[in-house]
Amino acid sequence: MIRRRLIILVNAVLLAACASGSDNTGLPGSSPAAETASSPLVSDLVPVMFDLGLPDWMPPPLEPASNRLNAAKAELGRRLFYDVRLSADQTKSCASCHRQQLAFTDGLPLSPGVTGQLTPRNSMSLANVAYVPVLTWANPLLHTLEQQALVPLLGQEPVELGMANLDAELIARLKAEPIYRELFPKAFPEKQGEIGLATVVRALSAFQRTIISANSPYDQYRYEGKIDAMPDAAIRGEALFFSEKFECHHCHNNINMSDNILHARAPHPEIAFNNTGLYNIDGKGAYPPGNTGIAELTGRAEDMGRFKAPSLRNVAVTAPYMHDGSIATLDAVLDHYAAGGRTIKDGPHAGVGRDNPLKSSFVPGFEMTPDERADLIAFLKSLTDETFLTNPKLSDPWKKEP
Ligand code: HEC
Ligand code: HEC
Repeated sequence: MIRRRLIILVNAVLLAACASGSDNTGLPGSSPAAETASSPLVSDLVPVMFDLGLPDWMPPPLEPASNRLNAAKAELGRRLFYDVRLSADQTKSCASCHRQQLAFTDGLPLSPGVTGQLTPRNSMSLANVAYVPVLTWANPLLHTLEQQALVPLLGQEPVELGMANLDAELIARLKAEPIYRELFPKAFPEKQGEIGLATVVRALSAFQRTIISANSPYDQYRYEGKIDAMPDAAIRGEALFFSEKFECHHCHNNINMSDNILHARAPHPEIAFNNTGLYNIDGKGAYPPGNTGIAELTGRAEDMGRFKAPSLRNVAVTAPYMHDGSIATLDAVLDHYAAGGRTIKDGPHAGVGRDNPLKSSFVPGFEMTPDERADLIAFLKSLTDETFLTNPKLSDPWKKEP
């Protein structure tokens, strides 16, 4: 229910933005909300032409034709991403829950918004988010960054930045900042530098498409042939990860180690949601109320517990894990998969995940020696891209250089 309300809210805002003369933010402007929600994956996507500094092996991502990326937009978006003026009480920005040094996650199981209310789910990494065809943990309808940005900005259940009904205030705050009076006209000359929700959302999305991670030891080893880039343990761990015994690769594959991917060389999106047996509260596969996966939106009983496999890029720095941050360490994630689904002994969520009837057949459980465990962990650690975590182009532009 909560999610459904959000979708309606998002569509209403986009339609209102269209009606008020701005063109669409990634969705067909004239379609009614219901049609928009079910329309085929955004049809107006085109390859990003802007130089993202991608290595040769990395295909360009796609972007809406109505919001082409350029340097001015990305620069403006970066300012906005780190600006607390985007929150009701000017205490939080997107970066409060998406911190660069944690691969744009926040290290918390669940995150407080401006009222202190916690998000129901764990903050997600934004590394290579330009390649993600369905955004957030369990929303098959959320396809573009332009749509998604409205959720933390305006969402009321939960309140994140809390800007619902504060449009005029937001615009006044942004207009009062000299840097924005310079940057908006550069980024949106075709709109005479209009400062408004639609341009804010577009610039935020443009910046997020520049959040590229492609230089982990594993990238260097696997795609650039640098055989010394990874320790031997990680090389052995890679073989285990991609083996039919451990099965990880069925759901964690491609350049983002996720089975949700879209780019210029694979223009048909790959989209999947899976139940890994994290819960089994009633013996029939139930997940905790409020976090039932895509079942919440599809209404189908068999979709209970089905979530998106997140990217495993930089996974060593994105703890805690899973959609609700309920697993603290990578070791404990391996325990969950080794058991073929987690067992919770007592409390309201008690149940044997291994027996979850809705669980994917690729999570059967396995025996793992201590050496195999160490190798798998070494492999997961080789996905950490230090140059990305410290890339000055993605850092807070409001901080004065030392
Ligand atoms: C209060 C914390 C918080 C704030 C503030 C916040 N986010 Fe998030 N973000 C989250 C959480 C939690 C999720 C997962 C949401 C879910 O699945 O329900 C998320 C998910 C996302 C995703 C989806 C990533 C993916 O791989 O699917 C994007 C994109 C995103 N946020 C961008 C933003 C932007 C842009 C802003 C600022 C306008 C922002 N966030 C502000 C907590 C936050
Ligand atoms: C059937 C598909 C599937 C298989 C097989 C699979 N995963 Fe996952 N993985 C997922 C999904 C879906 C999630 C999110 C589940 C949730 O939050 O409820 C996930 C989450 C994770 C996370 C947490 C990431 C984060 O940022 O929270 C890690 C780490 C992980 N998997 C590693 C592995 C490893 C290692 C293996 C092999 C032993 C594996 N996975 C096998 C689908 C799969």
